[in-house]
Amino acid sequence: MGVRLGDVAPDFTADTTQGSVTFHEWKGNSWAILFSHPKDFTPVCTTELGAAAALKPEFEKRNCKMIGLSVDPVESHHRWEGDIKDVTGHAVNFPMIGDPDKTVANLYDMIHPNASDTMTVRSVFIVGPDNKVKLTLTYPAATGRNFQELLRVLDSLQLTAGYSVATPADWKQGEDVIIVPAVSDADARTKFPKGFVAKKPYLRVTPQPNK
Ligand code: BEZ
Repeated sequence: MGVRLGDVAPDFTADTTQGSVTFHEWKGNSWAILFSHPKDFTPVCTTELGAAAALKPEFEKRNCKMIGLSVDPVESHHRWEGDIKDVTGHAVNFPMIGDPDKTVANLYDMIHPNASDTMTVRSVFIVGPDNKVKLTLTYPAATGRNFQELLRVLDSLQLTAGYSVATPADWKQGEDVIIVPAVSDADARTKFPKGFVAKKPYLRVTPQPNK
């Protein structure tokens, strides 16, 4: 069975481009984003890794560590990193797991045999400080992910964790958020001093609390 929301993210020890990593120990109390790539020296992955590296300062601001995976060995990742820097202008600045025996890929169900029985799909797992999985996402090999969207999701996850709010469709930083149904109107009045508007009894919006 795959890894589901709310599960403890499976722990593992693996070789990476930055040495051996034991996942839970490495992430500590931070957030973490673990994302897989089908294979080294592939075009879409090359662009994705440059995009991810460019956004590392933004993930860091959110206390989120980044770690990538591809089912090739670390020595191959190191050679590929030169191309990534050449093409995108960004050096890969986070560990890339080498997983030639597919231990981590299988642990996280990153191989979908009806898509390919050798390559990993483009999986993303965002893991919270409590080591529980907060987001999973799966893209096919031919579609590059939007790392700005992953930052947006992380902002939403962190708002939910910190303030008991949810974010509406297409929400962006600074826009109103939704008070989760589990919070009563009475509690909402004290918890959200900027006030709230009940568009429906179950749809109460309030200004973003941390702005
Ligand atoms: C790519 O990363 O470009 C890619 C990998 C496998 C299949 C198709 C595209």
